[in-house]
Amino acid sequence: MNTAKYRILCVDDESRNLALLEAILMPMGYEAVAARNGKQALEIIRRDKIDIVLLDVMMPLMNGFDVCKEIKGSEQYRGIPVILVTALTSTEDRIKGIEAGSDDFISKPYDKGEILARIKMLLKAKELNDRLSSAYKNIISLTSFGENIIKTFNPLDFNLISKIDSVVSQIIGRKGDAPDKPQTVIVNILNEKGGHDWYYYQFISNNLTSDRFNPNISFDLSKEEYSRVSFYNNLEGEIRFKSFVEKLKAFNIMAKNMVCYLSYNISIFALNYGRDINEHDAAVLDSLVMHTLFLRSLSLQIKEVEDALTYTVYALARAAEANDDDTGNHILRVGIYCAVIAERLKMPKNFVDTIRLQASLHDVGKIHVHPNILKKPGKFTDEEFAIMKMHTTWGAKIIGDHPRFAIGASIALNHHERWDGGGYPNRLKGGQIPVEARIMNIADQYDALRNARVYKPAYNHETTYKIITEGDGRTMPHHFDPQALQAFKETASKFEEVYEKLKG
Ligand SMILES: [Fe+2]
Ligand SMILES: [Fe+2]
Repeated sequence: MNTAKYRILCVDDESRNLALLEAILMPMGYEAVAARNGKQALEIIRRDKIDIVLLDVMMPLMNGFDVCKEIKGSEQYRGIPVILVTALTSTEDRIKGIEAGSDDFISKPYDKGEILARIKMLLKAKELNDRLSSAYKNIISLTSFGENIIKTFNPLDFNLISKIDSVVSQIIGRKGDAPDKPQTVIVNILNEKGGHDWYYYQFISNNLTSDRFNPNISFDLSKEEYSRVSFYNNLEGEIRFKSFVEKLKAFNIMAKNMVCYLSYNISIFALNYGRDINEHDAAVLDSLVMHTLFLRSLSLQIKEVEDALTYTVYALARAAEANDDDTGNHILRVGIYCAVIAERLKMPKNFVDTIRLQASLHDVGKIHVHPNILKKPGKFTDEEFAIMKMHTTWGAKIIGDHPRFAIGASIALNHHERWDGGGYPNRLKGGQIPVEARIMNIADQYDALRNARVYKPAYNHETTYKIITEGDGRTMPHHFDPQALQAFKETASKFEEVYEKLKG
């Protein structure tokens, strides 16, 4: 056992006894701290880290039993072993000692070998106890951390760096719990360009700070075997990390002990725990890294499925407009206009994202309308117009009733309804028209006016704005939901930007 790190508090009112204890302990490498009475002993315990107390019983003012009771009665210090050292040998006194909570009893005059053996035994027990209670604390904190992560996990919004930030804030030592946790955490992440970024975390005045730095360290992380966690109590002696330790020194970062997870994608180095580290510390880091990597992979898979869904929606929308005279990017642009208005109307994010995509399906029903009608240069006959109007109900039918496409289906059915009740197919009026269709109606009109059609030229932004807001006889402001119209007025410059960018 490496005794150098243990600090033993010797409490006795007689200097001779204190000197004797010191003479026994110091040569063994223990640090002996002396207290002349109970009050002083308690002050030292509150101030310094004490590993064991050798406590004289017969002292003036406060006797050893009372000091012991005080220590054992405190939640924070009851884990410190107390050995009562006394000339009292009666059974009654021993019972008093046990009742006061002492861990052991040594009679004066004591044998040097015996006292050292008892100290060694109690320190070992304390170490196991400490490990157990730290493991217990860790389990509780990891459990609530995990619960919180699952509750807030959004696969489409997963950000590795901010997830690493929260993992680091979970393991790194704050002021109060310094000895148990690492003082510094260094993270290495593979970036999108194939290089590695380094981050240096510390807790400074109650805030987790993270700084980018470039220690110019390279590990051979290409081998599969390194994708695992390991720990080192004497880092200076590790040949593999020699240059790592040296390079950190150049940044004023001393590395004494370390738990690390090394892999090509991500490496985490938890440095300088205030005590010996063990496989339990390694397991904590391992589980947090595994957790993070699992969520990242889950998020990537879900994003991939979402991308495929988006791709399919646009493919369907493009197929439907193949025979129409819309330009290719019309379906993209109207989605963005809708999102702009929806955002302005303070619709929930989920609605904004959904309308952005599903608005592209508004004319999907035109797949059933003959190209001769779609591309007819002149005025429609009544019969042709009746067929044309059917693209709304056909569209809703094609999209179907899957709940995820409810907004798309509703837009397809209702995007030609007008606020004043003059639209089709159901002549809905005002609030009877679903909000997504009211938004779409303006978006579609804006884009139609900007493009040349067989029956009209392309208008510039200013003219289009004027027609929508003031009317031209054919398109009138009272066709639109007043709130959506207001939102359009407030965001019109964005419409122009989107059109210019995606005119295609
Ligand atoms: Fe339409
Ligand atoms: Fe359209």
